[in-house]
Amino acid sequence: MTGRFVTFEGIDGAGKSTHVDWYVERLRARGIDVVLTREPGGSELAETLRELLLRRKMGMQAELLLMFAARSDHLERLIRPALAAGQWVVCDRFTDSTWAYQGSGRGAPAERIAWLEAWVHDDLQPDRSYLFDLAPELAAQRRASVRAPDRFECEDVAFFERVRRGYRERAQADPERFVVLDGERAVPEIRVILEEDIVELCNT
Ligand SMILES: Nc1ncnc2c1ncn2[C@@H]1O[C@H](COP(=O)(O)OP(=O)(O)OP(=O)(O)O)[C@@H](O)[C@H]1O
Ligand SMILES: [Mg+2]
Repeated sequence: MTGRFVTFEGIDGAGKSTHVDWYVERLRARGIDVVLTREPGGSELAETLRELLLRRKMGMQAELLLMFAARSDHLERLIRPALAAGQWVVCDRFTDSTWAYQGSGRGAPAERIAWLEAWVHDDLQPDRSYLFDLAPELAAQRRASVRAPDRFECEDVAFFERVRRGYRERAQADPERFVVLDGERAVPEIRVILEEDIVELCNT
């Protein structure tokens, strides 16, 4: 039995959390042993770093390095052991978020991100990544109704346009790994696509 590594991606308010718990339940219904986790966070140290990342003012470099510091601990303590034990790991955000937010959003140089990714991941990449794609204005409206904004969510529409573009470029560059979901569609319609993809993942 080999585990699979699945990530949920997209700008703030695009719909990741709306689907991720349901998705994990669907896997469990099939008898799959699943660990649900998130980034930044997922381990004790990484959750502490998350607090800093979401609340404290800092420069782009510190932000990028802290993201990878958190990811390194998360990979070492949770993700790799779980996959090695044959479990599936479903993660709300992963390194595509770093490419999109710190890279496209904040302007961190691609070669630096690539270097950190190679160092921290080794060869590990998600088997499947779902990109929830939604216009920033709509995403902002949706999340405004839910809770107070964190440091990223305070960014303007132009920032989220860049992040969205960054995500789309990632998806275009790796169509085998990505499934792009139109966040404007109704929740049940999105779930039909996710369910079909679970079947495909289970058969590959
Ligand atoms: N397909 C949809 N149609 C209408 N509303 C939706 C849809 N998907 C999610 N929502 C609503 O949009 C809001 C934001 O969704 P959600 O919290 O899942 O976003 P998220 O991608 O997890 O954001 P964040 O990155 O900030 O955690 C929620 O109130 C949710 O109910
Ligand atoms: Mg969420």
